[in-house]
Amino acid sequence: MSISLLVSAVLRYGDFFGGTLMGSRWSTKDTVSHLMDQARQGVAWLKERSSAPHLAVIIVGDDPASHVYVRRKVEACSELGVKSTRIDLPEDVTESEMLDEVKRLNQDDDVDGILVQLPLPSQVSANAVIEAIDPDKDVDGFHPVNVGRLALGQAGLFPCTPVGVMALMKQSLPELKGKHAVVIGRSAIVGKPMAHLLLHAHCSVTIIHSRTPNPQSICQLADIVVVAVGRPGLVDGSWLKPGAVVVDVGINEIKDKELARRLFGEDSKKYARFMRSGRALVGDVDYRSALGVAAWVTPVPGGVGRLTIAQLMLNCVTAAKRRLS
Ligand code: GUN
Repeated sequence: MSISLLVSAVLRYGDFFGGTLMGSRWSTKDTVSHLMDQARQGVAWLKERSSAPHLAVIIVGDDPASHVYVRRKVEACSELGVKSTRIDLPEDVTESEMLDEVKRLNQDDDVDGILVQLPLPSQVSANAVIEAIDPDKDVDGFHPVNVGRLALGQAGLFPCTPVGVMALMKQSLPELKGKHAVVIGRSAIVGKPMAHLLLHAHCSVTIIHSRTPNPQSICQLADIVVVAVGRPGLVDGSWLKPGAVVVDVGINEIKDKELARRLFGEDSKKYARFMRSGRALVGDVDYRSALGVAAWVTPVPGGVGRLTIAQLMLNCVTAAKRRLS
């Protein structure tokens, strides 16, 4: 092995030598299978009691990304035997029409989970719609009651991406207690709930956001980094402590040739594919650069996206079980 390869291996597996985070498996695919198995068992248990879970999904307008996400959610339902109802509303739907729809689903005893795909058009307040959902049917975990329950460490329904990421980390890392976790991004969907969940797992948590001075130097202290800001390739190897674990929640479409060249490398298959199609999906982490320093980096695509859907299925099962009891 050449000196540079050896140095890079030592850097990449730094914590193996330090004996902290390494010595464990790290596979989003395994965690997705595990969550889906748990959900499948839950569905079987509910079906034995004639109470198969039922998810209602509301989607507004024609946003292509939202349609892809909703299709995947509905497909996961049919894979597991979860009943699903998809409600398509036009782009010019009014807020009061949406609130009526949510009210109707709240009152429908056959419906266990309600999910309103975001974003919503500007004439509709997402907050008003989310607040109208019965918290016990709020499988996205966005309702203020569930946000409060999460902050207080009480039982509730919590956002699928951060809960899925926690499942991945609990399955893959020997110990979370005492680790320094840096969450980059403070969204209600990922950043804030992620920070609460890491705190409940006894991590020391720092949140970095757009107004944080010297974010890079703070990130360099982290054992665990979770990035969810929507800035393609923001976090590269220079942000990371050797041996850190990095979870990339970002998903961005890029069309910039220079950026693609930097992220993929000119001689790569990915760059060739980008040159053919003129676009590519990337995360918030510069994967190639980060991989040279971190112990683990989740890829985009093919990383946490499937965790989110698997956890949504588990949230539907949880909601259905609670309603049954
Ligand atoms: N839009 C982007 N992510 C999500 C999500 O997790 N849930 C919903 N409802 N909409 C989204």
